Amino acid sequence: MFPFLLLILLSLSWRISASAQPAEEFLRCLSLRFHNSSSITKLVYTHHNSSYSSVLKSSAQNFRFTTPSTPTPLAIVTPFNASYIQATVYCCRKHELQVNVEKATAWVESGATVGELYYEIARKTRTLAFLARIGHTVGIGGQLSEGGYGVLLRKYGIASDNIIDARLIDAYERILDKKLMGEDLFWVIRGGVSKTLEQNATKLVHQWQSIAHKFPKEIHSSISIAMVNFSEDGKMTIQAESILYRALSIIGLPLETLLNRTQKSALSQTFFKAKSDYVKQPISELGFKGLWPKFYEDEAKSSVTVLVACGGKMDEIPETEYPYPHRAGNLYSILYVVNWEEEENKNSKKFMNWMRRVYSYMTPYVSKSPREAYVP
Ligand SMILES: *[C@@H]1O[C@H](CO)[C@@H](O)[C@H](O)[C@H]1NC(C)=O
Ligand SMILES: *[C@@H]1O[C@H](CO)[C@@H](O)[C@H](O)[C@H]1NC(C)=O
Ligand SMILES: *[C@@H]1O[C@H](CO)[C@@H](O)[C@H](O)[C@H]1NC(C)=O
Ligand SMILES: *[C@@H]1O[C@H](CO)[C@@H](O)[C@H](O)[C@H]1NC(C)=O
Ligand SMILES: *[C@@H]1O[C@H](CO)[C@@H](O)[C@H](O)[C@H]1NC(C)=O
Ligand SMILES: *[C@@H]1O[C@H](CO)[C@@H](O)[C@H](O)[C@H]1NC(C)=O
Repeated sequence: MFPFLLLILLSLSWRISASAQPAEEFLRCLSLRFHNSSSITKLVYTHHNSSYSSVLKSSAQNFRFTTPSTPTPLAIVTPFNASYIQATVYCCRKHELQVNVEKATAWVESGATVGELYYEIARKTRTLAFLARIGHTVGIGGQLSEGGYGVLLRKYGIASDNIIDARLIDAYERILDKKLMGEDLFWVIRGGVSKTLEQNATKLVHQWQSIAHKFPKEIHSSISIAMVNFSEDGKMTIQAESILYRALSIIGLPLETLLNRTQKSALSQTFFKAKSDYVKQPISELGFKGLWPKFYEDEAKSSVTVLVACGGKMDEIPETEYPYPHRAGNLYSILYVVNWEEEENKNSKKFMNWMRRVYSYMTPYVSKSPREAYVP
């Protein structure tokens, strides 16, 4: 596989927030700037539009951010080409996918989802792939700017390592490619942060953490820890499930599933809080044993904690070589997710507090100074 060439362009849907009487002025500005002023009625949503909230919610994976207490944007703009993006940028200081199989490169505008990119590649070839995440509803722009971390990471690294060029529009409406934007900006847009069963479950996880990062690169290995209701008498027990992917496939689902932008993630369904950690030294059995009781707490009934092996290609890349920093030296990463239902949202604090307790408990066992986190 060769690296893909990606044209990333910001952005499918822009949420504009501003102060003082902004709506009218902003809209007047747009109508002057849009080449075809009638398109403002198709591309701009304000609170007056009945579909405003459905547009806003359509991309919300975490319903915590759709409750009435969360401030909403003044306007949502859905520009479909660079002219509209330039106009929008000016006023506030979609997307075609082309896959070129011969060169093993792809141009993609950042409004496309990861699923749409996978879909276009899969339609043209079954021998090439792009290495981004499993959850396919995320926009390419967001995915690449967070690094872009998926099941091929141990074999090829992550998505943003494979960006050959990018075009972005700056606050002065200029379209900048890699050469024009310069190394620093190109660094930042690719995920850069500042340089610088009880007993059995314990054994499984304890052993896994020492070997998983040494698995062949072709294997993506993770362990998912959650409460399950095994027995008829309803006794809950912790299940630690090890998952190996040998091939990236969405088994049994039609390819078109990749185009579904409203599909919810398997890890997080409705209201949730997630945090992450990186582990550099194996955690002792005692350390895990102290963690398990937290999963029996009431708040944890729909929580899931996933350990994802690092190593492979990621171990060969020094932290300073590419923008995404979590590379050599990490055995695995941990993703903690706690989910709750809409009717429980008035008690969201108790779930947030559960997460804080878990995160605090893990402090001695995970990376320090600084404590690393994956910031999506
Ligand atoms: C203006 O844009 C709308 C939709 O964006 C399109 O339907 C219409 O044909 C365009 N008119 C011109 C003159 O380009
Ligand atoms: C929003 O509402 C205005 C005024 O009713 C209408 O002209 C416009 O077409 C609506 N915009 C969209 C994107 O539906
Ligand atoms: C964007 O679309 C508008 C309306 O279809 C068109 O007038 C304009 O030339 C397009 N701009 C680019 C850069 O494709
Ligand atoms: C734990 O492992 C032992 C021996 O490997 C096995 O006999 C036992 O059934 C396992 N317990 C559970 C709950 O899986
Ligand atoms: C566990 O499963 C049993 C049988 O399916 C069910 O009766 C019980 O309510 C479940 N317990 C919980 C806590 O979900
Ligand atoms: C997309 O996924 C959502 C949630 O899983 C489902 O409700 C919806 O019907 C799907 N849409 C299509 C077009 O398949």
